[in-house]
Amino acid sequence: MKKIAVFTSGGDAPGMNACIRAVVRAGIQQGMEVWGIRRGYKGIINNDIVPLRSRDVSNIIHKGGTILGSARSSRFRTTEGRMLAYQNLKSHGIEGIVAIGGDGTFTGANVFMQEYQDISIVGIPGTIDNDLYGTDFTIGYDTAINTAMEAIDKIKDTADAHDRLFFIEVMGRDAGFIALRCGIATGAEAILIPETITSIDHLVEGLKTRQKNKSNSSIVVVAEGDDAGGAFDIAKTVKTQMPEADIRVTVLGHLQRGGNPTCMDRVLASRLGIAAVEALKEGKKGIMLGQNGRLIHQVPFEKAIKHNQGVNPHLQQITDILSS
Ligand code: F6P
Repeated sequence: MKKIAVFTSGGDAPGMNACIRAVVRAGIQQGMEVWGIRRGYKGIINNDIVPLRSRDVSNIIHKGGTILGSARSSRFRTTEGRMLAYQNLKSHGIEGIVAIGGDGTFTGANVFMQEYQDISIVGIPGTIDNDLYGTDFTIGYDTAINTAMEAIDKIKDTADAHDRLFFIEVMGRDAGFIALRCGIATGAEAILIPETITSIDHLVEGLKTRQKNKSNSSIVVVAEGDDAGGAFDIAKTVKTQMPEADIRVTVLGHLQRGGNPTCMDRVLASRLGIAAVEALKEGKKGIMLGQNGRLIHQVPFEKAIKHNQGVNPHLQQITDILSS
């Protein structure tokens, strides 16, 4: 394989730049020409494709966001959009693509490869949500949980000063991975995630017991996709059962997506970037590179998308034990 391209797609995640850098440099070292596609699938359709040299990716390993930009493209979902994308890739002679993104990115890649079999796409998990099967961690997750943890630590200071009950909503779309880890790390009294059924009565009972036994301030971390609703909805319901509580709500939002990637995200991104180039060179396609334990391995896109990796039940027990 002589010409490959790289793009980032879906929600940006800290560490994507480190990954672009790794793909570009590993590709060049393998004697390949490496191109960058701007703004994901949208950029393929708009022929926004530029050559990348080693120096183009200098000094980006530590930066959040993505130098290639990201987008969600509705046009790529159409046959006409994908045909245009194919023609543009062919006009540049691109044979292989490294797609850095989440499940939407890999779903698009699968459809495209079924229609155009002479373009090989391999994927790298890049999303703060950590919701892909086949990798212990996705690029951006570690940074996001550390950012959320720092923010919650700060809120705890003020919660304590005023004896308040805070509901803090974190991102994660339909998954509770961000909530679970940063909730444990901040000693939250409760963590509400979509993977388990939320009982408001049980929550209130726990908060009241805690008020009696330990402290007047409490933190409840809510995953944005929780079955009982967002932090505002839950706070409203709790208020009806705890009218005396001084309740506040904070939604951390997009600040969780930005910032300099942690060491762990930079190293993960670098390893997966190199592995993706090697996979293309070996003629692989339709697979995502992931890291389990210390090893890098390959998972078919279908498996990465459809098989939810599930939250770790041992992590869930930690909060029950330590906040009681
Ligand atoms: O998938 C990453 C993510 O940040 C989710 O956690 C969140 O639900 C979503 O993207 C937000 O998307 P947008 O940036 O389009 O509002």
